[in-house]
Amino acid sequence: MHRCEACILLGTAILLLSTQFKCVQSLNEDGLAVTPVMGWNSWNTFGTYIDEELIKTTADLLLELGLADVGYTTLSLDDGWSSNRTEDGLLIGSKSKFPSGMKALGDYIHSKGLKFGIYSDAGPMTCAGWPGSRGYEEIDAQTFASFGVDYLKYDNCFAPADDWVIDRYTAMSRALKKTDRPIVYSLCDWGVLDPWLGWAKNISHSWRTTQDIAPNWDSILANLDSSIGLAQFAGPGGWNDADMLEIGVGNSLTHNQERAHFALWSLLKSPLLIGADLRNITTDSLNVLKAKEIIAMNQDVLGVAGELVWKQGPKEIYAAPLAGGSRGLVFLNRHCGGTNQYPTINMTVHWSEIGLPDGMEAWVRDLWRQIDLPRTYNSSFTASVELHDGAAFKVTPVSLDLKRDHKMIALLDGWRPWKGNPSFVVHNEDLAELSERNMSMELPRDEYGYLLSVSK
Ligand code: GAL
Repeated sequence: MHRCEACILLGTAILLLSTQFKCVQSLNEDGLAVTPVMGWNSWNTFGTYIDEELIKTTADLLLELGLADVGYTTLSLDDGWSSNRTEDGLLIGSKSKFPSGMKALGDYIHSKGLKFGIYSDAGPMTCAGWPGSRGYEEIDAQTFASFGVDYLKYDNCFAPADDWVIDRYTAMSRALKKTDRPIVYSLCDWGVLDPWLGWAKNISHSWRTTQDIAPNWDSILANLDSSIGLAQFAGPGGWNDADMLEIGVGNSLTHNQERAHFALWSLLKSPLLIGADLRNITTDSLNVLKAKEIIAMNQDVLGVAGELVWKQGPKEIYAAPLAGGSRGLVFLNRHCGGTNQYPTINMTVHWSEIGLPDGMEAWVRDLWRQIDLPRTYNSSFTASVELHDGAAFKVTPVSLDLKRDHKMIALLDGWRPWKGNPSFVVHNEDLAELSERNMSMELPRDEYGYLLSVSK
């Protein structure tokens, strides 16, 4: 999302929700990354095989495919863009890959209304063996600023053990500040020094929390599991980064897995960085990436990351408060296998698990289908979730008036999903659901397929 758009949204939120000003204040004073960064990064598909033509085509495609319109505006080069330093110690782009130079590339990206992201390393060498920035922080930061860089991903390879992580990452943070150019600073220490615990917040706008992601379901789940318990540390200006998106990468995830990956990363408020080759992405993957109401959870102005609130083996429910008293929900069915022994399952969320008073009447909106369900719910909601899918919903209490009910809205917005959770409570609905799975076609469902018998 453009910085100015984020500011307008933020301003609107402050006006409307003045009682919640604390909630939308940035962790960082510089006003950058008020919502998680959205964009594209070269690594997941191309590794070090990147060049000028690919990046310019990708810039064009971000616009042509409507991705920039929905918020993917930071186009970022990963490892492999540079050549060796010049005799003066300057970092320059590879002449064979970027014959027009990095400044010209930045100009092209900016001419499309996009932001320019680049990559370096807090050690002597990048992971792929190109020069790192340790010892050259100031000169490199000035170089990046002269290219017109708006975003820096800063990796952690080849650093000697006695060169402390915090010192290395702080050195680049200081150097970036000296450039006087607003540059979003994205740490990639893979979570080795628990960056969520505070030190990274003071110097950066996001921090990787996990190992490298890969385009397979196990990797998505591993990074998801490594994110549990971290929501409390994120907020406007400083986000947990569960690594880049694998949607559309190598067509190796099922459609449901892509939906689950996207809905979960959105709710966790991870930066949303597309890793696919946009020249041949499928319509299905594109539709996942462009699902506006899922993106809206990620970019919600309240800026509270979602957390696991209910779990029973492979059934999980994640939730976050959304501005205005609503809740964002993702129901994940991570049953193993892919045979017809593991069909669609039902999962129920109770209002007590998402900080809503029991009896409070609420609308439920299906965020993938972009429809309100035809009736209201007042203490729980049951969703049918296909194997490896991430069904996503927004629960909004009915008839809350921003002026009249501002105290109630502030109370609802103040709920935090990590307090008192996760919950392992057994619902009556869970038991009913077992027999339902045996005769699923016979129980009454509404026109959208939601069970009528167990939804209250
Ligand atoms: C890893 C990093 C990846 C990618 C790669 C480049 O350390 O986690 O996201 O940047 O280096 O070599």
